[in-house]
Amino acid sequence: MTEQVRLSQEKETLLMALYLRALDNRRETPILGDPYAQEVIDRIDYDFAKLGSLKGNTPLIAARARQFDAWTEEFLAAHPGGLVLHLACGLDSRPLRIARPASAQWIDVDYPDVIELRERLYGPIDGVRNLGSSVTGSAWWEEVPTGRPALILAEGLLMYLAAEDVDRLVDRALEHFTAGSLVFDGVAPWVKTIARLQPSIRRADTGFRSATPAPAAFTEAHPPLRLTDQRSAVELIGRYQANAVTRSITRALARVPPARDAMRFMRYSFTRG
Ligand SMILES: C[S@@+](CC[C@H](N)C(=O)[O-])C[C@H]1O[C@@H](n2cnc3c(N)ncnc32)[C@H](O)[C@@H]1O
Repeated sequence: MTEQVRLSQEKETLLMALYLRALDNRRETPILGDPYAQEVIDRIDYDFAKLGSLKGNTPLIAARARQFDAWTEEFLAAHPGGLVLHLACGLDSRPLRIARPASAQWIDVDYPDVIELRERLYGPIDGVRNLGSSVTGSAWWEEVPTGRPALILAEGLLMYLAAEDVDRLVDRALEHFTAGSLVFDGVAPWVKTIARLQPSIRRADTGFRSATPAPAAFTEAHPPLRLTDQRSAVELIGRYQANAVTRSITRALARVPPARDAMRFMRYSFTRG
């Protein structure tokens, strides 16, 4: 049986990411290779054909997920008893995809209707709790245990929040946990401006509200944070391309700063007190 899906605005973008991970998995040499995306799509009653104009973003979404998976596995290898707070999880299969020690805790967070849909499609996942709330609220933090090193993952989220909401969310996380890492992706100001022109984004009536916070200003605004890594999406995509021509074009693009910085994957660490 398929699930009727009615998601609006930025929630609909989770179907876009899911669709692109499924397309990646159909390639001869996938960048990510997520076997769950297509299985989930097959159970959703939604016209995925209307997302066709997004196909060119397949390497981007796959490279992003691969980088986030790698950083999550690194965190869990260093902190097998740690907590992963997977914000804006959408219908991503990350907790099934990566090596996850039984001693680790994992919380998937997204809007309540997204979490309901996720539960219908995936069922319970061992060692994973679901939390339905907007991440901009404060009450849901009461459900999140403290006292373990935490990895806060925000993939495809912060650009949908106003800059003040990003700051508030980060402050709450830093007050809540004593040590951990914060991983997110962000877009350049020019991408934020033009994103609305993309037909699928326009049809979903959404757009980007904030650009990647500049590291110097971000660490000054949130003092316990230290930048530990930043990767350019274009550089990573270049590395993963199997086709020599596409690889050369992408590598050339990665030398042009506006293209190089169009989307970046950021990792910060923090220790408080
Ligand atoms: C582009 S999708 C990314 C989903 C998932 N991380 C992935 O990569 O497939 C954006 C996600 O952000 C979620 N989102 C946006 N604003 C949110 C908010 N204020 N609170 C909770 N989730 C939010 C949407 O519901 C959606 O699942």
